[in-house]
Amino acid sequence: MISRGRRWNLLDLPAFAAFLGGDPAGVVTCRFEKNECEITSLNSFVENRGIGAALIAAVEDTAREKGCRRLWLVTTNDNLHAIGFYQRRGFRLAALHRGAVDKARKMKPQIPELGMNRIPLRDEIELEKLLSPTPAPPSSPAAHPLW
Ligand SMILES: CC(C)(COP(=O)(O)OP(=O)(O)OC[C@H]1O[C@@H](n2cnc3c(N)ncnc32)[C@H](O)[C@@H]1OP(=O)(O)O)[C@@H](O)C(=O)NCCC(=O)NCCS
Repeated sequence: MISRGRRWNLLDLPAFAAFLGGDPAGVVTCRFEKNECEITSLNSFVENRGIGAALIAAVEDTAREKGCRRLWLVTTNDNLHAIGFYQRRGFRLAALHRGAVDKARKMKPQIPELGMNRIPLRDEIELEKLLSPTPAPPSSPAAHPLW
């Protein structure tokens, strides 16, 4: 997988798998760098059953536990479904990397010219979700205001 000009072997990255009735239903991979977490791949094998959302939630929970302040990913300009899917789950458009897929194709010639929805596959779209730190539990005994 190539993202932002860097090549990753997904088999080397942390992953979560989802199962439905014991059968594999989806996989997400991610990587942690500094205080950020990138979702490097997300694939649901049983769509519209909440698998994709559950996998994102698993990564998000882990990213918060590790103190990450930003969860981010890139998708491609043709993936209209994913662009909507992520935005409905709190991600915002963060950057357009125009021509990034054309550059990636030079590293990985198997990337097709034509993508989903019969859209030429050219650009990377970066989406992000900023993570606020998990609030610390109240100290005990509770402090009282002085009024
Ligand atoms: C994008 C992708 C991961 C979504 O996975 P998914 O398992 O279908 O995701 P979910 O089931 O959580 O959500 C999909 C829709 O199903 C709906 N849904 C969830 N549970 C449902 C249920 N029990 N019954 C009916 N609908 C349901 C959700 O509301 C959601 O709709 P919304 O986005 O309009 O809110 C999947 O389409 C996929 O693998 N695509 C190919 C690879 C890809 O593009 N990956 C992302 C690129 S970075």
